[in-house]
Formats: sequence, structure tokens, C-alpha cells
Amino acid sequence: MITLAHFDTHPDFPVPGILFYDISPILADPALFREACDALTPAPGSVDIVVGVDARGFIFAPVVAQTLGIGMSMVRKKGKMPGDLLESDATIEYGASELVLSPNGLEGKRVLVVDDVLATGGTASAVGEMLARAGAASVRYAFLLELGGLPGREVLKDFVVTSVVEVP
Ligand code: PRP
Ligand code: MG
Repeated sequence: MITLAHFDTHPDFPVPGILFYDISPILADPALFREACDALTPAPGSVDIVVGVDARGFIFAPVVAQTLGIGMSMVRKKGKMPGDLLESDATIEYGASELVLSPNGLEGKRVLVVDDVLATGGTASAVGEMLARAGAASVRYAFLLELGGLPGREVLKDFVVTSVVEVP
């Protein structure tokens, strides 16, 4: 079973005061990687599309989508994707990041947002705000790791949120 012990930790990365949780040991172990993907996957038929968040969400989201037999859409960092896009500014745990999303194919859909970590909730709420503008019928979230002591859970209080491992 995946526990906190399976994450490598790096103090003061990427900036002083931040404890970075590295998912590499889980990715390196096929059984743990499979377990992580399965734990991120909701019941079949409960969502219509998976949205993966650039960059580390991209590791898990396509596996979840393929397991459910549904499609996937990408939230990207600004400047990496062409076309008519929705934009949102995200304030994250360390710094800010501008995110973009194509609204195509999201109207009326039940969306599952997949990412590796929930920290301040800035990234997730920015994604949710873009999905609302895209006309999504509902939004729920699945994270591999949820960091306690930060406002992420409170920020997403109006949504279904699952996390595989929680830091107290
Ligand atoms: C990290 C992490 C989450 C986000 C969580 O992404 O992968 O997406 O921060 O923090 P928050 O809840 O405070 O928004 P980041 O953009 O730092 O790195 P990545 O490009 O490697 O995913
Ligand atoms: Mg990320």
C-alpha cells in the first residue's frame, strides 16, 4: 500500500521553506505506480472526461482515462498550446503559474481533474474556474498526495476530492 514513506522528501526545494515531495520512487516501482493510478480512478461511469494538469498530472491522468475508457484533456502552462484557449492565473505554493485550457469538448461534461499534489489548492481552483467557464456540468478532483496544514481542502470544499495519501 502506498504510504508517505514512498515519497522522497527534499527540504527547501524549489525555494527555502518548502518541503518537496518527490513521486519518483512510486513511478519506479510498477506495482506502486499501478496502485497509484487505480486509487486515482473513480467508479466507471461516474465521469465523462479526465483533465490532466501540466506537468506531473500528465503522468497519471492518461492512465486513469484509459482505464475508464474515456478521453482526456490537458491543462497546460501558458505558451505551450495554440488555439482558442481559456486562461487562468494560479497562485501556487511557491510562486505563480499561468494555466490554459481548451474549452472544446467540455460543455455539459462531468470532469475529473487529476494531479499529483494538492497543496494550497491554487492550481486546482484555477482549473475548476476554467472548467466552469467551459460549461462543465460537474468537477471532481483526484490527487496522489494531499498536504495538510495548507488550505487546499478548504479551497475545494464545494467539490468531491479524493487523495491517496495525506500528510497530516
Ligand atoms: C505542483 C504540483 C501541483 C501543484 C500543487 O505543480 O504538481 O500541480 O504544484 O500546488 P498548489 O495546490 O499550491 O497549487 P508545479 O506547477 O509546481 O510543478 P509541475 O509542473 O512539476 O507539475
Ligand atoms: Mg503540477
